[in-house]
Amino acid sequence: MSATHASPKRLAPIFKAACVGGGVIGGGWIARFLLAGIDVTVFDPHPDAERIVGEVIANAERAYGLLTNAPLPPRGRLAFCARLADAVADAEWIQESVPERLDLKRRVLAEIDAACPAEALIGSSTSGLLPTDLQTGLAHPERLFVAHPYNPVYLLPLVEIVGGKATTAGTIERARALLDAIGMNGVVIAREIEAFVGDRLLEALWREALWLIKDDICDVEALDDVIRYSFGLRWAQMGLFQTYRIAGGEAGMRHFLAQFGPCLKWPWTKLTDVVDLDEALIEKISAQSDEQAAGLSIRALERIRDENLVGILQALKGSRGGEGWGAGRLLANFERRLLASAPAASAPDPSAPLRLVEAKVSPAWIDYNGHMTEHRYLQVFGDTTDALLRIIGVDMAYVEAGHSYYTVETHLRHLDEARLGEALASTCQILSADEKRIHLFHRLFAGTPEREIATAEQLLLHVDSKAGRVAAAPAAILERVQAIASAHARLETPLGAGRAVGEKRAGPTACRTLQGGGSEDRA
Ligand SMILES: NC(=O)c1ccc[n+]([C@@H]2O[C@H](COP(=O)([O-])OP(=O)(O)OC[C@H]3O[C@@H](n4cnc5c(N)ncnc54)[C@H](O)[C@@H]3O)[C@@H](O)[C@H]2O)c1
Repeated sequence: MSATHASPKRLAPIFKAACVGGGVIGGGWIARFLLAGIDVTVFDPHPDAERIVGEVIANAERAYGLLTNAPLPPRGRLAFCARLADAVADAEWIQESVPERLDLKRRVLAEIDAACPAEALIGSSTSGLLPTDLQTGLAHPERLFVAHPYNPVYLLPLVEIVGGKATTAGTIERARALLDAIGMNGVVIAREIEAFVGDRLLEALWREALWLIKDDICDVEALDDVIRYSFGLRWAQMGLFQTYRIAGGEAGMRHFLAQFGPCLKWPWTKLTDVVDLDEALIEKISAQSDEQAAGLSIRALERIRDENLVGILQALKGSRGGEGWGAGRLLANFERRLLASAPAASAPDPSAPLRLVEAKVSPAWIDYNGHMTEHRYLQVFGDTTDALLRIIGVDMAYVEAGHSYYTVETHLRHLDEARLGEALASTCQILSADEKRIHLFHRLFAGTPEREIATAEQLLLHVDSKAGRVAAAPAAILERVQAIASAHARLETPLGAGRAVGEKRAGPTACRTLQGGGSEDRA
């Protein structure tokens, strides 16, 4: 979150990836790698490949800006190559994402295998082909595996990892570790079957959906409503089995199986019958889908999808008191790793208010007026205070050892609105400090050029959290606080400091500092 950085530490265990195929899925992989700080070379003979990939990266950067305030590593470098062999020559991970045809994939994988370093990993994005079939004819089949992602690859963290007969356990382990480092979750599928787990499930649902449309039971809009207003919401956070466990009531899964098991034999579904996708059905579905889109382009729909996914991921991240749940826990862990691998902030310049937090207004922060909702202002100011505390040495180890600063007063003024996606930056000025108290004044700016949208004046008390009482801070902390406080004493008292609720005075106010009795003494 700090604005100034020294030399970066690496987030990912690799430096360079190659992507062969840069369509919907290849483009998503490219963005995922680049944003994790990995250099990417691309081979895709499509004449518009650079433009298409550029648009996916732009969407991904926008989505990451909304997703997290944690410090992302410097973006990796991107290069397009005219020859496949050049793209993969010194790559450590090669991801194949060419169209789903066995003959094409085999030919491309053989070219990759012949041109890439012997120790490189080769993942295939195939949606359902068996890895053993893809390994046929390779000189080094032991490093080939399926790495099946979900669209958009830069936001959805799952990758199904499926080994073929020749894939070694070491390959699978290395693949998992790399995915973990870039915020993804490599779930290893125990045995290879066509379509693995995810597409197996999705195909069953898709087949039923096609029957329901063909038989005029509902149209595509009604079908999507049935999913997104009900089990779609449940699936995002608990999947299938845990959801049904709850549906079984107090007796849990056993009762659920007893109650709904028999109806599997009725059966409700059309089982494996395959609907005939004839011209008439294709036209019917496409026309209904066009009407449902109501003129929104694919890129516009992608942006809406990404904003919604970001909101869901953030909600899941906040679950269980911030511990996170499901994909939200993964995001929380990834952010912790980003913070840990971020370069230490260089010593702040105390001759001006400290610029401490840079963020973006995320979709989950927007209220019914279309602006950043009020408690998010406090969240950013809280993050600003946390950033100051880290600078003065109050980190997690300090808190776990039984001491901390608690905020006991906040006076927050809302001066202007912030809109979705706007850049935010906050500054912090220490108005005064003594051995037990720090009196702060934060300012929040939005947009370019920056405009001031809020201020917050806070009083912090140093506490012995085990004893549950206010206590003097130790000398090492006080020394850092005083170094900033004495430099800030030379700054002008900010407009709005010491102001009471409803006061409209324009100029600097009669803000009394702690030496003058503290904010609790103000009239
Ligand atoms: N679309 C999805 O939702 C999805 C999800 C998961 C996995 N997949 C899998 O990902 C793979 C790619 O699917 P997609 O949806 O991105 O398809 P796509 O058609 O959007 O992209 C394929 C890309 O491969 C390029 N290409 C064709 N021949 C090539 C070659 N010889 N060398 C290099 N590039 C070549 C094409 O120019 C195109 O840009 C498929 O195996 C698919 O099953 C797709």
